[in-house]
Amino acid sequence: MKRNIFSRIATGIILAVTVLYTACQKPEPALKEVFSDHFMIGTAMNASQMMGDDAPAKDFVAKHFNSLTAENAMKWERIHPLPGKYEFRIADSTVAFTDRNGMFTVGHTLVWHQQTPKWVFEDSLGNALTRDALLARLKDHIFTVAGRYKGRVKGWDVVNEALDDDGSMRKTKWLEIIGDDYMHKAFEYAKEADPEAELYYNDYNIETPAKRDSAVKLLRQLLADGVKIDGVGIQGHYHMDFPDLKDLDESIRQFGELGLKVMITELDINVLPRPENISGADISQNFELQKQLNPYPESLPDSAQRQLAGRYADMFSIFVRHSDKVSRVTFWGVHDGQSWLNNWPVRGRTNYPLLFDRDYQAKPAFYSVIETVKQ
Ligand code: GLA
Repeated sequence: MKRNIFSRIATGIILAVTVLYTACQKPEPALKEVFSDHFMIGTAMNASQMMGDDAPAKDFVAKHFNSLTAENAMKWERIHPLPGKYEFRIADSTVAFTDRNGMFTVGHTLVWHQQTPKWVFEDSLGNALTRDALLARLKDHIFTVAGRYKGRVKGWDVVNEALDDDGSMRKTKWLEIIGDDYMHKAFEYAKEADPEAELYYNDYNIETPAKRDSAVKLLRQLLADGVKIDGVGIQGHYHMDFPDLKDLDESIRQFGELGLKVMITELDINVLPRPENISGADISQNFELQKQLNPYPESLPDSAQRQLAGRYADMFSIFVRHSDKVSRVTFWGVHDGQSWLNNWPVRGRTNYPLLFDRDYQAKPAFYSVIETVKQ
């Protein structure tokens, strides 16, 4: 009996201490406030987060981030799935949400070779469009989409991924049918549709020297031709061993020297083994799921957690050092559970690429990143 009372008192004390401890623990600081003297901090939200299936997402995003990109909702196949048929529901909700919360909305993306339906390049009989017909279609798309959100979407990824990894112009339908000036045209239409919006070129692997040299050349040419282009987005789909930090540092410097704003637009760090050492974000790549490619199905071990924190800190030290050039750092997703890297380039893995875990808890990487403002 006596024992029973003592053990109940002991359990009560433990519970009380735990409750007190939890209540006293400070919530983590808001990322956007930590970096307010340096750059905007953005994230990407998917449709279910925006439309309400992931209830905590919106409050959480409003707390930490001051810029937002819709992960898919403004891509051609989603917003303009059929000729003459636009689907604005999710994009409208996104812009209403960012308006309500005073966030900088990024439109992603107007011209891309992926997630663009085949019909865009064909006439009603399935024949390839002429240059003039494709230009007219592109203009109509840009005017309709960028026109709808005029003054509300503050920056557009006008062209996404125009370069191949070897630095040559990617052989897309845009290039094939319109020709070398397709980017000029896209930027021209975007400027006409919303003269106040910032206009960007966005790509992956443009930290690697060969592709970076081509990107610098391309951007310099666009500027010399009088194209209104305000910034360059380094997507930032990274790994523990890619890219070389020196290359990242040098890229920000070189892009900044062109007089463009530099943005890290889709940041994540893939901690899982990479088949065939691939990097970047070519979404057509797909490898079979094997056990050795999915080493942490339950949780990320402490040692890997610490390495990830270190890698994030190294990168943020570079961003902070270049904060005169870097205007925004956007993560590609809110928390680990919702990252595309659980399904690319291998479907069904458990990945840990972001600063918040599947329960919205700040990871060690979060705390290492916020330390970099003190450097
Ligand atoms: C590229 C695109 C993004 C997204 C990612 C993968 O980086 O720009 O829109 O599709 O790939 O999620």
